[in-house]
Amino acid sequence: MKPTFASSFSSPFLVAIGMLLFVACSGPTDEPEKAPQLAPELLAGKAVVDKTCIACHGQGLNGAPILGNKKMWGKRLPQGEDVLVSHAINGFAMEMMPPRGGNPDLSDEDIRNAVRYMMSLVQ
Ligand code: HEC
Repeated sequence: MKPTFASSFSSPFLVAIGMLLFVACSGPTDEPEKAPQLAPELLAGKAVVDKTCIACHGQGLNGAPILGNKKMWGKRLPQGEDVLVSHAINGFAMEMMPPRGGNPDLSDEDIRNAVRYMMSLVQ
């Protein structure tokens, strides 16, 4: 027996309705895109670098090792974090690297965070 007009029509129609319901119910999720997060002290260090240190370390003024440039940092990193921090706090190379990047308001902690952030860019 031949299928009636109604039954041959209705099944694709029902499938279409079903798909519409499925799409409507599964909708977009509310999960925001997760950006990679920096550790809090690196985030604090980045703020100091972006405000103060970048003036010279952004472009390599007077031979300042450029942020993220592995070659320029390569011979400085082996001195270790403590030596780099003390050079940044006290000044270095006849103060071409000025004490605290020229901003006396920065604490030792600010400088250490900034140096850690600089080091993290080349590791
Ligand atoms: C006025 C420019 C200037 C500013 C601002 C500045 N620096 Fe420097 N920095 C230099 C120069 C130039 C050198 C390279 C000195 C050399 O070795 O000849 C340097 C070197 C360094 C070094 C490597 C020291 C070593 O022992 O090799 C560190 C670490 C550093 N700076 C950290 C900082 C931090 C942290 C800040 C921000 C708080 C900062 N600098 C801001 C100019 C600057």
